[in-house]
Amino acid sequence: MCGIVAYKGKKVCFPILLNGLKKLEYRGYDSAGVACLMNNKIHITKRAGKVKELENAINNKQSSKNCGGLGIAHTRWATHGEPNQKNAHPHVDASKKITLVHNGIIENYDPIKKFLKSKKIKFKSDTDTEVLVQLIGYFYKDGKLDFEKSVRAALQRVDGAYAIVVLNADFPDMMIAARKGSPLVLGLKDNEFFIGSDVSPIIKHTQQITYLNDSEMAVINGDGYEIKSVDKDVSLPKKVEKIDYKIDDFDKGKFQYFMHKEIHEQVDTILNTLKGRSTKSSVLLHGLSEYWEEINVAEKIYITACGTSWHAGLIGKNLIERFAEVPVHVEYASEFRYNHSIMDNKTVVIAISQSGETADTLAAIAKANDFGAITIGICNVPGSSVSRETKCGIHTRCGHEIGVASTKAFTAQISVLYLLALKLADSKKKITSHVLKKHLNMSGYEKSAVGLNPYGTKAIKSLLRKEKSINKMAQKYKNASDFLYLGRGLNFPIALEGALKLKEISYIHAEGYPAAEMKHGPIALVDKNMPNVFIVPKDKTYDKIISNIEEIKSRKGKIIIITDSKDKILRDLADDLILIPKTNQYLFVILATIALQLFSYFIAVAKGCDVDQPRNLAKSVTVE
Ligand code: M6R
Repeated sequence: MCGIVAYKGKKVCFPILLNGLKKLEYRGYDSAGVACLMNNKIHITKRAGKVKELENAINNKQSSKNCGGLGIAHTRWATHGEPNQKNAHPHVDASKKITLVHNGIIENYDPIKKFLKSKKIKFKSDTDTEVLVQLIGYFYKDGKLDFEKSVRAALQRVDGAYAIVVLNADFPDMMIAARKGSPLVLGLKDNEFFIGSDVSPIIKHTQQITYLNDSEMAVINGDGYEIKSVDKDVSLPKKVEKIDYKIDDFDKGKFQYFMHKEIHEQVDTILNTLKGRSTKSSVLLHGLSEYWEEINVAEKIYITACGTSWHAGLIGKNLIERFAEVPVHVEYASEFRYNHSIMDNKTVVIAISQSGETADTLAAIAKANDFGAITIGICNVPGSSVSRETKCGIHTRCGHEIGVASTKAFTAQISVLYLLALKLADSKKKITSHVLKKHLNMSGYEKSAVGLNPYGTKAIKSLLRKEKSINKMAQKYKNASDFLYLGRGLNFPIALEGALKLKEISYIHAEGYPAAEMKHGPIALVDKNMPNVFIVPKDKTYDKIISNIEEIKSRKGKIIIITDSKDKILRDLADDLILIPKTNQYLFVILATIALQLFSYFIAVAKGCDVDQPRNLAKSVTVE
């Protein structure tokens, strides 16, 4: 939550900072602000609303052209204090010499605030962040401690999560950044330094980056920098990596919204994720090889995640239990972290996360590691906290996902889980090599170079070509106030995911249910205004789902069917129908997902919603 960008170098900092904020806006967008150091004074501009408001304010200021080469900026997702200008970052201390941007939550802000107030320090905002900058100011005041020591002293007294960048007007050649629980990346280029909550504001300027670990601070002074510990004044060695994100990941190209672009990218992202991970007769997951012996004999598997990634976990459970016959428990990370789960070194805990920075998922991993479990990360961001804190893992290779509603990451997560289930089944001899080969070479629609080919690109392309008709359908249903999404087996999680997508971006209430469970309660909601989206593969559940459709139909509910079957009975039952290409039951799940992503997307656009930045949400939830 919240995006941070900072710059130190010879260039004018505002354009770099504003550009960076635009890239980070997906993390939070209720207010934004920037601070720079000019003539040994801190200058701050803040605005409620999106970065555009801040940009207009800055462009109207003559002084912004001379703002110098040292600045920090922030785009906010409010936790403490309303989203208004007063609470926007950067915040300053009482002396107005020290300014700071923060992503995270200071949990013990209340006692610290009381202490500072007892020292006659006045507060101007309602935020937890101001407490931290005032505390740094308190330690720095009257030369009690030097700048770096003041930052360290304050950080040692706060509980919770933070990523911060701090400036001090007395040190015009210095910038200090630190993290615990919230991500921070340092970009390096000759005598320039870039800091970001992720690489998106940095990548345009340099590919040389270093990820800060928890309890580390970067002290940038003059033309040099040092990574130090927050706990004591010691230097730490640091690895500089070359990252290879493509700049186009951060551009919408011909699309109006990132979400639409990312839905279309699934033609490539699934294949990228699968590439090199199987031959015609075996699954290769090199990221797990060091721990494979332990994984293979594990007696129990937990999958933990949040939101869309949790839905992928439900599919993982189905596939692993189906193929490998190991019991799998899927738990929300926010529950898992406090539950009394029984784990030991024979337990595998799979954490799924697009961003790799979700606070609850990280806490779940920490708990599993404490129990000695084998933690596996399925994550889209190399170098992220999930990647680093799990013992082993598999990256989904989707590139940057910017739309707040997760799309391409979900289908890649499912693909990885499918491979993992097959590999486990093979190792445990739960499937024959003949069956494995069948999975790996399934010619759902076309042969591909990667061997495993249920995820035929042709089928996805052919579905995407139908988007106009899905858009037309969306216009018809855009004014509905409630939806039910219904599916069975592998498609129950897809119903949950379809409902979540609709809620997130169009603010229409929607619920996902197992199709047969609907009659145990939700059916009471059904009337002639209620659209019911049924996901109906032509498989062994087909006849049962038809009965479920009849049950709704007889109560006059509207019926929308997503199917791969051309059966007349479905056409007769449906008010509207999306026919997806005929492939196999595993690819069906992916195709149905894409159809539902498009349906929600077009409804949200038709309602004039801000698809990439839905209200109240942020892309990565880095607070508990
Ligand atoms: O980055 P993560 O996968 O850990 O994020 C988990 C959820 O916050 C995320 O899936 C959220 O539910 C999305 N907005 C769904 O579209």
